[in-house]
Amino acid sequence: MERAEAAVRDRMEAYTAPSVAPGDVSDELRPRIDELGLWDAVEHMREHGYAVIREAAPPALMDDLREAIHTLSKPADTPSGLASAPMLLGRHPAVDRVATLPKIMAFAEFSVGKAMRGGRFVGSIKPDGGDALALHADQNWMPTPFPEHNLVVTFCFACEGMTEAGGSTCVVPGSQLRRRAPTGAEMEAAQTVPIETQKGDVAVWDGSIWHGSYPRTIPGTRTVLHATYQRLYTQPIDDFTYLLRDAEYMANAPEGMRQLLGADLFFHTATPERDVDMKKFMYAVAASKL
Ligand SMILES: [Fe+2]
Repeated sequence: MERAEAAVRDRMEAYTAPSVAPGDVSDELRPRIDELGLWDAVEHMREHGYAVIREAAPPALMDDLREAIHTLSKPADTPSGLASAPMLLGRHPAVDRVATLPKIMAFAEFSVGKAMRGGRFVGSIKPDGGDALALHADQNWMPTPFPEHNLVVTFCFACEGMTEAGGSTCVVPGSQLRRRAPTGAEMEAAQTVPIETQKGDVAVWDGSIWHGSYPRTIPGTRTVLHATYQRLYTQPIDDFTYLLRDAEYMANAPEGMRQLLGADLFFHTATPERDVDMKKFMYAVAASKL
């Protein structure tokens, strides 16, 4: 009886625990942000809705990522000339390594919370003359106003760095405060600034900021991986859960992959014989507040 009462008390405590405020770093995460030197990027993200994480990935890993994207991409059937490769998680070791880099996992947790999941891992190659990408907000399938807690965070790994002339990402500073997508008139009138990175840096932006990309006006290609992470209660865009059923893959996958795949979450754990996994449910209750 006492055990049952203690379980009820623990559950009530978990349900009523306070949430970390939007933009704050939890006590649990703070030591990792310290250790990884991420405070500049965290503060820039809070104020501007985007940031650059310096030296997030070793340059040699960016070379491997570039090769993976060039190997796996197919030419687009649009006039933009953009070649792309969707659903890359689990299909190349370089992609899995960048997806689970310590700085990326910690920053994603800051932006979209503990137990966030992988949403989309898409490689693309923009050629000389490649088109601009129109302004949009990445969490554009959510109702507006977007919640104060960010739901979607996107990391852009530009394999050789990116510049405005090279077709970099651009953002509209301050637009994240509108908490909605731009109107047509706002898209036409918007003043954008480039996000420029060196090889090994990673650009990141939240789900609210209006962003797009510049056309490429110089020779060569812009090869990037866009990796998107989502707050645990949102439906992941792409379904990578098939990887959890591949025992050999999971045995060799980098640490962090189980989390990106939602292995410890309670979704889809109920069966006609047994209701949801309560241990996993209580983990989500706690994680949802951090
Ligand atoms: Fe986007």
